[in-house]
Amino acid sequence: MALFTVPVVAGAVLVATVVWIVTRLRSADAAVPGPAFSLFSSLPLKFHEFCGNRTRYVHSLHLRYGSVVRLAPGEVAFASLPALKEIYMSNGSGYDKTAFYHLFRQYSTPTMFSTLDKQTHSKRRRILADRYANSNVVKAEALDGIRERASRFAAVAKTSQTLDIYIALHSYAFDGVTHHLFHPFGSNALQDEADERIMREVSFDNSLARRLLEYYYPSGLPGKVADLLGLLPPARSIPRAKQIVLDAVDATLLNASDEKTAGGPRAADFTLLARLQDPALGLTRMQMAAECMDHMAAGIETTGDVLCWLMWQISLPAFQGVQDRLFAELQANRDPSKYDSLPYLNAVLKEGLRMFPSIPMSLPRHVPEGGRVIDGTWLPGGTIVSCQPYTMHRFDQDVFPRPDEFEPDRWLDTTPEQDAEMNRRFFAFSNGGRGCLGKHLAMAEMKLLLRDVYMQFQTVLTDEAKAADMSMADQIISARPKDQTCKLKFIPRGKTEAA
Ligand code: HEM
Repeated sequence: MALFTVPVVAGAVLVATVVWIVTRLRSADAAVPGPAFSLFSSLPLKFHEFCGNRTRYVHSLHLRYGSVVRLAPGEVAFASLPALKEIYMSNGSGYDKTAFYHLFRQYSTPTMFSTLDKQTHSKRRRILADRYANSNVVKAEALDGIRERASRFAAVAKTSQTLDIYIALHSYAFDGVTHHLFHPFGSNALQDEADERIMREVSFDNSLARRLLEYYYPSGLPGKVADLLGLLPPARSIPRAKQIVLDAVDATLLNASDEKTAGGPRAADFTLLARLQDPALGLTRMQMAAECMDHMAAGIETTGDVLCWLMWQISLPAFQGVQDRLFAELQANRDPSKYDSLPYLNAVLKEGLRMFPSIPMSLPRHVPEGGRVIDGTWLPGGTIVSCQPYTMHRFDQDVFPRPDEFEPDRWLDTTPEQDAEMNRRFFAFSNGGRGCLGKHLAMAEMKLLLRDVYMQFQTVLTDEAKAADMSMADQIISARPKDQTCKLKFIPRGKTEAA
């Protein structure tokens, strides 16, 4: 018993603390610039994560400490091109993802996105890649469905005159992605209230704090305590979204296998579901559903948020000239097949993605065993490293002068060298073998929507939109406008109105 006297316990604690401090001071990340507390504690970083403010916090650290910064013990962020190439592109798909991505399992089933290791991931990606190749996205049956939905959006705007674009654009993105995932079982949220409710389930999810607790404290105790104290919003609950995916999977599987229903509707050839149900792949019903669910969520929030921020930006009084130039370009190129070869439309969209990447925050990866030198900094295996699109698009002001200004012309009035430098740092869709698979689909959806809107309308902010907080609220990996509302007035071209 004498072994556990107060002085002995206090002495042991003191020795352990000294050993821990010395270990931290001698660790590799001690040599990395960053706030002193980040060498000993991850609490400040977590605090910002729980407040939905991680992206801006990390960016502020880069502005203060430079292109490499220690965020927490064993976690380092980079904002340079050599680091981006090493972390995300070395050997094709860069370093393995961290366990953070387990948060993205669907129906408790792993998906391509939530897979951590390269080998398993690349097997799945090889199977799915052709669905999202540009040649598949622009097939008549695939693209016509997106075109139809863009016209539907413009028709709704014409009738309503004032539209909450946060809702309408997320409905559009939902309809567009489900068309590509499982036509003819896609949604019609732009016109059908029941489908709009499904979109709302996904887009208005408020489970950030709960999911972060799940990641950091898998034992569940802090989550349970916070719940008992009533500190947490409800858990992520998306029953309708889960059901629409399962219904599509089941219908297409049944119609493929049951003689009585054979001849009934099945997923169209260009869709993701048509690929997944190929018996040669041997995927289970839940594996198919999980993959579709993941792409559906990826397609709703990202595309909807970028379009919302971009249309808000060019509806501000100072940016009406951007709309005039878009209108002139679109009028001169009315042939719908030209949507992808319009320089000004392309520059406006690219600048929107640069300023408002809807996945703006760190994409975490593990340094491989044995350690690596990243842009001149050696870090041991297991260190969490990342770059974030928000900072890659702003940090190097020789490449992106006036980084917080919306200037589409930076993509046009430029030298080939400067253009190449900007493109190398363009990280909205990430890069390498784990970069965005849906990029071509997303670009087609966004260009077709902007084409249909700005060929017909001038958009201006309503008083409600002027009052709305459009600042970035981080979610688990994406971000959205804080107030989740943005009411715009759609004025048919020809009728003028002072902005
Ligand atoms: C503006 C729209 C979009 C943006 C900005 C965007 C951005 C990104 C980014 C940054 C990643 C990498 C994330 C990471 O490594 O953690 C990613 C991955 C992915 N995105 Fe997108 N995305 C968009 C639209 C879409 C759409 C429409 C789809 C499909 C329907 C899609 C499907 C995917 C998939 C499946 C992955 C995982 C790829 C893999 O693990 O190999 N995305 N996206």
